[in-house]
Amino acid sequence: LEYRGYDSAGIATVSTRGLELVKRQGKLERLERALRVERPSGTTGLGHTRWATHGVPSDANAHPHLDCRRRIAVVHNGILENFTELKARLGRQGHRFRSQTDTELIAHLLEERYRGSLAASLRQVSRLLRGQYVIVAACADEPDLVVGIRQGPPLLVGAGKGENFLSSDIPALLPSTRRIQDLDDGMMAEIRPDGIRITDARGRRVPLKPQEITWSAAQAQKGDFETFMLKEIHEQPEALENTLTGRLDPAAFARELGLTSGRLKAFDRVHFVACGTAWHAALVGRHWMETVAGVPATAEIASEFRYADPILTKRSLVVAVTQSGETADTLAAVRLARERGAATLSICNVVGSSIPRASDGVLYTRAGPEIGVASTKAYTTQLMALMLLGTHLGRLRGRLPASRARHLLGQLRKSSEWVRRILSRPTDRALVAGLKRTRNVLFIGRHVNGATALEGALKLKEISYVHAEGYLGGELKHGPLAMIEKGLPVVAVLQDGPLFAKMLSHIQQVKARGGFIIAVASAGVRVPGADRILPIPAADPLLSPLLAIVPLQRFAYEMARARSRDIDHPRNLATSVTVE
Ligand code: M6R
Repeated sequence: LEYRGYDSAGIATVSTRGLELVKRQGKLERLERALRVERPSGTTGLGHTRWATHGVPSDANAHPHLDCRRRIAVVHNGILENFTELKARLGRQGHRFRSQTDTELIAHLLEERYRGSLAASLRQVSRLLRGQYVIVAACADEPDLVVGIRQGPPLLVGAGKGENFLSSDIPALLPSTRRIQDLDDGMMAEIRPDGIRITDARGRRVPLKPQEITWSAAQAQKGDFETFMLKEIHEQPEALENTLTGRLDPAAFARELGLTSGRLKAFDRVHFVACGTAWHAALVGRHWMETVAGVPATAEIASEFRYADPILTKRSLVVAVTQSGETADTLAAVRLARERGAATLSICNVVGSSIPRASDGVLYTRAGPEIGVASTKAYTTQLMALMLLGTHLGRLRGRLPASRARHLLGQLRKSSEWVRRILSRPTDRALVAGLKRTRNVLFIGRHVNGATALEGALKLKEISYVHAEGYLGGELKHGPLAMIEKGLPVVAVLQDGPLFAKMLSHIQQVKARGGFIIAVASAGVRVPGADRILPIPAADPLLSPLLAIVPLQRFAYEMARARSRDIDHPRNLATSVTVE
């Protein structure tokens, strides 16, 4: 699971010699090299890839962490909020720390309470911890056992044959099993080669009910592509087809949503909640909800929504948009919405993950595993799902004439072929060669493509580290125009229709100050003032975000490549953000 953290990694095995530990700062390949030399043994073990919270990336701070006697090994995701007081207390009790991490404290707390049962001591220790965490532990005195407990970040059980697993994400399990169960908060799993025991926060037995995951192990591999991101960009046509399949029939779609038609008709407001790229999809979805379904809608950043005291009623629908289904802020937003009596629906890529389980209904995007940190196919399939939802509500509420619905759904059907066409064009390497030393790029768009501008800018900054900003074109003259100087690259995303002429005026304002315009526009359309055009097929303007983002994903990719960036491991980021 290197994409979840790559500043250090380590493993511990339980062998006849006790616990064997190998840890290395840096990417996983450094650990792999060390393992070839140190060759730990044993068939029970823990591994971890770290995204630093407490303490710099270093060998010592890498997980697993051990207690003083080196009998208990622990890995952990999340943050312990009472770290300082626990550390002071353990220090007074004579425990010696080898790292600066909060995780190590858990090993010492387990050492204090261990009386022959790792599971019992982990349950006791969990009551002392504040914050969000997943802990997995093994003990040299119980060599066939691994125990995990969840309070926040994801923890999955993988049921194998003569072997069983715990993991924080599905791809790690796929080479061994597709029978996977996601645990709820408070649950603990004890894993032995021949059995899995799950208990809830009160110690009551919970039945094992694994879901069959349809993703294949090959889908979680790079194949012939140089990076996961490039593979995922090219998987978009198929991902879009999969997300659409079987969903054009309104009755079947309604059944899948899990919310009754009566309820769907009664909503008077939709709140989309999401983070990052998924929020950009939500911004588009919000426009679609208003234009296509006639329901007032907002798109809110989940980390703000959860603290904003939102006004929600029984007639509010809160739609969480999320690839992983585990983003901590989005999950908290959904829980808050439910507490306040709103109906909740998630648009999610990972079957059985926490956010769909916390929601009243779910619409899965069927993008397959997204391993690249920079989201691509998750975004376009989220857009597809949002338009399906918008048209469904529009028809249900009598707001969308049948002919318009047919037209929009027809466009959705064509979208995968259109994306394929965009991807079949060679990328503009000369453009990238000319821009690779640029320090700033501005992206502008209007209405639905305001979100495309934001998403294009996010893609560029996160993988190439070029400073990029996305703006609504109409806002240029209210401040950002001051940034324009000779040669500043400005990416203008144009859609056909009434806003086309407005975008042309923005382009002229930029040109007048020496900016260099890269326009994303329908093929064959003349864009006066553009220095370069990245063409896309001429779709309905409302649906153009689904296409317009694709050349921008490729542009960001080529810029990152030209700047020799580690595209699948952008600095400081991880693909799923399960801490606040
Ligand atoms: O799994 P989620 O969709 O909830 O993740 C939300 C964001 O962390 C995510 O979209 C992030 O912004 C992208 N990976 C960036 O490309």
